[in-house]
Amino acid sequence: MLKGKSINIKKICCIGAGYVGGPTMAVMAHKCSNLEFTVLDINEDKINKWNNNDLDQLPIFEPGLKEIIKSVRGKNLFFSTEINKVISESDMIFISVNTPTKIKGFGAGYAIDLKWVETSARRVAKYASNHTIVVEKSTLPVKTAEVIKEILKCESDKIITSKKSFSVLSNPEFLSEGTAINDLIDPDRVLIGGEDELSINCLKNIYKIWVDESKILTTNLWSSELSKLTANAFLAQRISSINSISAICEATGAQIKQVSEAIGYDSRIGDKFLAAGPGFGGSCFKKDILNLVYLANFYGLNEVADYWEQVIKLNNWQIKRISKFVVEKLFGTVSLKKIVILGFAFKANTNDTRESPAISIVKDLLENGAQVVIHDPKVNYLQIKKDLNTDNEHKIYTPDFGSWQFSRDIYKSLKNADAAIIITEWPEYRNLNWEKISQLMRNPAWLFDTRAITDPEEIQKTNLNYWSIGNG
Ligand code: NAD
Ligand code: UGA
Repeated sequence: MLKGKSINIKKICCIGAGYVGGPTMAVMAHKCSNLEFTVLDINEDKINKWNNNDLDQLPIFEPGLKEIIKSVRGKNLFFSTEINKVISESDMIFISVNTPTKIKGFGAGYAIDLKWVETSARRVAKYASNHTIVVEKSTLPVKTAEVIKEILKCESDKIITSKKSFSVLSNPEFLSEGTAINDLIDPDRVLIGGEDELSINCLKNIYKIWVDESKILTTNLWSSELSKLTANAFLAQRISSINSISAICEATGAQIKQVSEAIGYDSRIGDKFLAAGPGFGGSCFKKDILNLVYLANFYGLNEVADYWEQVIKLNNWQIKRISKFVVEKLFGTVSLKKIVILGFAFKANTNDTRESPAISIVKDLLENGAQVVIHDPKVNYLQIKKDLNTDNEHKIYTPDFGSWQFSRDIYKSLKNADAAIIITEWPEYRNLNWEKISQLMRNPAWLFDTRAITDPEEIQKTNLNYWSIGNG
């Protein structure tokens, strides 16, 4: 319909001011000073935080984010709740809302809940004016673009004289939390799926400002949507694979780091993403694989579904085996024992706790009566409280259900502790003075290192009992 014409893009908005929407638009604004970007959200509190003068109050912690926000906010980057107005003024609209697993209804436990995507599409359909390029930034089930197109079409068909028209692109995001800014500035690739060449080129021209053209791939819509799910499934599969081997190492005397290094030298395997740990967390791996499983079952590909589901099963097993192991080593009971959790975020350099293995491990310990002290450099008390789903810190210790407290002081929290469990690989935990700590802790006390970031030789100099993942 707009074939042959060029599309003039001046104003861009993004629906969803979360871990993806905020950093992505900030980097785009930083790189494209002649374009105006507005990040929208229904959550007023979140938008206020994005607009807060104190950059330590931004809703997410991401290295390098504060500096970028400082350089562009109020110039060509804005955060707003005026969704309808901003949509009506935008030439290109990214949809970057949450896409969690459905918790009820058909497909519960596997399918993606598209409620937030659909609401966004309806709003775009209603308030957009002229020609608008709608870009799927959220990770979506294959064929979602069909749904979005259908919603947009209904609205533009309503008014015959309307100048409204839409084209839909898929532009999945591959950033990792903790390295999001670098990933956005220097991505391995940018993927654009679409049908309409003019719109594809529009988006491509924006990325071309800072990304080498050879790294910008264009595909059809469905390949783009499926590539995003596949990338996450492959990454998660690698972690389940190495975690499965960590258990074999423990049983046999092999050492996981040596095995990772040995296989990583094979250029076909590569050395990245081979660190054994407490199981993968984060908001996406689990939900995206479950979505792939749902999709495979939907198309009658049951063996394919079973294959991918095993990646999740192994991950659940890995998380569980850690809490079981801790209880077993503490003479079969943690009731009234003080256990310090070092790290609550699902990985280092983020304040995100979604699907963090720490949640499940702490819940297990509480159920077994432990007195848990949780330390994390960036996650706050309120988030932990929400994740543990407890009304209050249980200050009255009972053998039936444990208690938890939050601490920002590592050494203080370890005083008289029976055990410490490293769950997140924060740099702060790499060079602790374990000699000093062992004096503070009870005797005998345990250090469980689920990230293998401590030096076994150093710990052996102390009187701590020691377990490090994958070290037989
Ligand atoms: P998030 O939960 O941090 O942010 C989503 C935001 O969308 C929330 O602030 C929510 O209030 C807002 N929102 C929901 N419905 C809205 C509506 N109708 N109008 C305006 N705002 C609305 O989620 P996220 O981590 O940024 O992830 C967003 C998408 O990106 C997901 O599909 C995810 O799978 C994908 N993704 C995430 C990452 C990551 O590292 N977090 C990386 C790549 C892709
Ligand atoms: C992951 C992908 O890496 C991104 O490419 C993708 O865009 C994103 O999901 C998404 O779609 O949400 P993220 O979850 O932020 O990014 O972080 P990762 O670095 O992938 O780590 C995921 C989990 O795997 C963490 O719990 C991490 O500790 C664990 N992990 C990672 C390991 O246990 N070992 C490793 O070697 C690497």
